[in-house]
Amino acid sequence: MANLKNIRPKALLGLLVIVLLPILAACSSTDNPLTTISPKSDVARDIHWNYQIIFWFAVFVFIFVETLLLYAVIKFRRRPNDGIPKQVHGNTAMEITWTIIPALILIAIAIPTWITIFEIDDVPDDAYMIEIVGHQWWWEATYPDGQVTANEIHVPSDRPIGFNLNTADVLHSFWVPQLFGKQDIIPGRTNTLWFTPEVEGRFFGQCVEFCGISHANMRLEMIVDSPTVFASWLSGIDSPAPAAVSPAVVAGHDLFASKGCVACHTISGRNDAVGIIGPNLSLFGERLTLASATLDNNTENLTAWLKDPEDIKPGNIMSESAPIYTNPDLALTNAEIVTLVAYLQSLK
Ligand code: CUA
Repeated sequence: MANLKNIRPKALLGLLVIVLLPILAACSSTDNPLTTISPKSDVARDIHWNYQIIFWFAVFVFIFVETLLLYAVIKFRRRPNDGIPKQVHGNTAMEITWTIIPALILIAIAIPTWITIFEIDDVPDDAYMIEIVGHQWWWEATYPDGQVTANEIHVPSDRPIGFNLNTADVLHSFWVPQLFGKQDIIPGRTNTLWFTPEVEGRFFGQCVEFCGISHANMRLEMIVDSPTVFASWLSGIDSPAPAAVSPAVVAGHDLFASKGCVACHTISGRNDAVGIIGPNLSLFGERLTLASATLDNNTENLTAWLKDPEDIKPGNIMSESAPIYTNPDLALTNAEIVTLVAYLQSLK
């Protein structure tokens, strides 16, 4: 028995370490891109406040119930020669108590939840409105003056930002956890969302409604810029700098037309590239990510994407219907990919 007493605290400690280590590991990583517990906007902070209220009520209930349970198990455990315990049926006072306390807790949770839901629903009149369209599997953003971008959505840091959410095909759901809560995007209806940024930076988002085979690859980045950086980015879409002239860029520019890319993609400054089936590629060379924020935008990843987009984003419309991917006779050669990469990177 003496040995057993020595072992039990150690075993308990071991169990605690096993349980707590992953929790501590999750807490320590402050750069988790999709964290829900590090709000960076007014709306996200209010949602987080609700989360904290519910969390601490849950902690209180857990400790209270488990303490009572342990107390009862130890205090009223069966001992040798115990007879049948006293038989009881019902206890009105206790039943009323354990009905009223949870009801009060639910009311305490419901009130701030309602307040937050109505707040989120009410887009401020002075919000800077951006039209969002979900596509399988990428995001299109149209600004008030008509500029269009895809997947990397810049917003200014100095005012409320509002979104009108629509879909080109099926259900999606728009979510940038550090900036705002999830909002479903439903065919045939326009939902709204808004938030006011608190800091500048890059914030990752993700489609959170299953929308087909590449749902998990339907990501985005929201980039909160200072007002001046935002204004210059936005005007850059209207007046892109002339592409650096190198033979590869010129060849890539021409290939972009001759290979049919222009049928689906728009690039500002080009009269021949006005397609709207695929993502708008204006200022693509400035983007930090590609393939709906699934890969860093660098030469290696862009080459891999142009070589075999199906491998990176299964089921995407380009690899399923663009002739260069469906007709082996038209497939891009490695040399052609090099020039297309040079051209796309020159779009700044
Ligand atoms: Cu779009 Cu999931």
